[in-house]
Order: sequence, then C-alpha cells, then structure tokens
Amino acid sequence: MRKLLLKNIKLLLSVYEHAPTRLKGEQMNQLPSIADAWLASENGEIVDYGSMDDFPGITDWKDLEIIDCDGKIVMPAFADSHTHIVYAGNREQEFVDRINGLSYEEIAARGGGILNSAELLANTSEDDLFEQSKQRLIEVIALGTGAIEIKSGYGLSLNSELKMLRVIKRLKELNLVPIKATFLGAHAVPKEYKNNKKGYIDLIVEEMLPAIAEQKLADYIDVFCEQNYFTADETSYVLSEGAKYGLKGKVHAEQLSHSGGISVAVKNRAISVDHLEYCNDEDVLKLLNSDTMPTILPGAAYFLNLPLPPAKKMIKSGLSVAFASDYNPGSSPSGNMMQVLSMACVQYKLTPEEAINAVTINSAYAMGCEGLVGTITRGKLCNLIITKPITSYSFLPYAFGSNLIDIVIIHGEKF
Ligand code: NIG
Ligand code: FE
Repeated sequence: MRKLLLKNIKLLLSVYEHAPTRLKGEQMNQLPSIADAWLASENGEIVDYGSMDDFPGITDWKDLEIIDCDGKIVMPAFADSHTHIVYAGNREQEFVDRINGLSYEEIAARGGGILNSAELLANTSEDDLFEQSKQRLIEVIALGTGAIEIKSGYGLSLNSELKMLRVIKRLKELNLVPIKATFLGAHAVPKEYKNNKKGYIDLIVEEMLPAIAEQKLADYIDVFCEQNYFTADETSYVLSEGAKYGLKGKVHAEQLSHSGGISVAVKNRAISVDHLEYCNDEDVLKLLNSDTMPTILPGAAYFLNLPLPPAKKMIKSGLSVAFASDYNPGSSPSGNMMQVLSMACVQYKLTPEEAINAVTINSAYAMGCEGLVGTITRGKLCNLIITKPITSYSFLPYAFGSNLIDIVIIHGEKF
C-alpha cells in the first residue's frame, strides 16, 4: 500500500468536499484553498486533507513517504484536453517558411501542413511512432500535466489512423496518467482524395469508424471544421455518424475563419469546441444554452499569430472556459501548460484564479475526466503539482518561463 503525506503546505489550492463538474462565469474566480495544510494519499488517490492545526497525527508509518512542502503551493495537476502528441518528425522548416512570409494556409495549399505530417507518419514504424510519442508524454507529465487527451488525424488512411490510435492505446497502457483517445480522421483531405472529398468522408464513415469502434480505439470523435477542410454540414454528418458508435464529439472550430463549427458542435452536443478565434456574439449565446465546453488554445493563436479568441468576454457572459495546449507539430509545438496558464492571464486577461480553473477543473470536464482529476477532492487521483517556494499562486503566471514546479506527483508518487 503506497502512502504519501504532504505536510506544511503553504497553500492547498482548489479544495472541494464535493467538486462541481465545471465552473461557469463568475464562479471561475473562486479558488477555495486551505492555508498551512496537509494532504494524504493512499493507493494513488487523495484520501484526506486539512489544516495543519487539525492534523490528526500519524498512526501507521509503514510504506509512508512524507514530503515537507514548507513555503510551497500544492495544486491539482493540469488537465490538457486537446493535444496531437502522437506524430512523427517535426515541421520546423514550415516554421521558418512562415517567418519568411508564407501563411499557414499557403503552406497547406502546397501540400505541407497536416499532409506533411501524414506523409512523415506513414513512413514511420508503429514502434518508432510509439517511442517518439512516449517521449512527449513523459515530457508533458514532468511539466505538470496529470491527464491528457490525444488525437489521431495525421493518418488520413484506414491503416495509418488505426496505427495512431493503437499507439494512443499503448500510451494508455503505460498507466501513467488518464488518457482519452480522439478519432480525428476528418483533420484534412488526403492527397489521393484531393478531388473527391466525398469519397474520403465515405471512407471515414464506412471503413474507419466501424473498425475503430470494433477495436474500441476511441473515446471521442473530432472534425477540423474550416474552409478548405470540412464544412459545417460535413462536420455535422461525421459527428452524427460517430454518435451511432457512442463517440461524443469534439470540434476544431472558428480557428482561421468563421465556419459554423460552434453551431454544429452545440447541435450535436459535443463535449468541447476548440480554438474559437473567430467566435462571434451569436456563438456565445448558443454556447450558453449547452453543455459544450469552449476551449481556448493559446499556443496555436500565439504560434500562428492569429487574433485572440474572446475568452474573457465568454466568462463575463457566464460561460465556462477551458484552456489547453494543442501540442502538435504544426500550430503549437509545445505542451507546456504552465505557459498556457501564463498566456491565459497575460494575453486573455483571465485572473490567476480563472486561469487556474481553466487549466484544471474546466479542462478536465472538456475531456470527460472531471471525476478523476481537476480539484483536490477525496477519491480523486493524487495527481498534483508541488511548486517551488513562491509568494503566492499569482507568481505562477507572472514569472512566465521560470521553472516553478518542484515535484509532480502522479498516482501519489513522485514522477
Ligand atoms: O489544432 N487546426 C487543426 N489542427 C491542428 C494543427 C494541425 C497541424 O498543423 O498539424 C490544430 O491547430
Ligand atoms: Fe488541434
């Protein structure tokens, strides 16, 4: 029986006896905390916590690890609800091409972008792909990520999509952190179907989906709803076909233009709708009457120099908002959620409390892991971040770029 005791915690953040599933509007400014706290974990779960004043003492020392957290803040590990960390190689040449004046769309139009990653992936063995992806998984856990969603979508053929999803399954089987797998066959139209998009959509629906469902390789289905990718109607069709196999939707929407992805996501009861650079007031109203989590991906907006999505306006309108990394080789080659937290404050004007909630409880909801992670609650996984000694939690987004994580705890053990 593994046991862990954290004592003398300067501040224990986001403590809930009964955790809500997500926080909306003004609630996002709340961050219930205990100063001078302790926390105990057993078998990988949080079993108890409280103030040091009421510390009951230790009766059973066997297999107990004690960490003194004097001066340090303890918070739930990040939930990263949107990533593409299974990919082969990199695309730094496209990055240089963009610096020299080409746009993301121009690079895609000449066969680069997602199609470039698809070619690299097709030429990489499944074992090699697994090793490359595992390295990234370990990298982001060390950066504080305690649950992660991973998409396919660089396969774009039956074999390669299955290969990606099998790699995600192998990553799940490492049992490091909770992982959700998302089937993103509708990420781009592959070269062979350049003049036959309908043929590719038929392949997704008639061949990929049944195979993936039969092998239980996906938890969600996603579509890149965008000009030159998939229209709102095509997105709706793919989501509704996925729903027949019990796959809930997630949508890449309104990233490079207003393409109607939010409407479609809400109509199909998607769990999240992500990017949202071109989200308008009507979209905000639609989201208000839904269970769909709007999710901002500041790394992609930063890396592609896109206009900023109206995150603060959404919160002021009463919406829940989540933030995630979008870690991928083309538009956001970083899975650093502490950086995402800082961008949420600096660029999007979220308060530190709103930003912390956006990368923990709300992003956990956006990947269906709110029962497992996202708050300090008895029975949830003991996946935590212990900071270095800092003055307050506002120091985390403030001192951007500093490594402020002392220890990452996963399943009640030092990672
Ligand atoms: O989330 N927007 C679409 N898909 C990815 C980028 C894919 C790529 O460029 O490889 C994203 O930004
Ligand atoms: Fe993405």
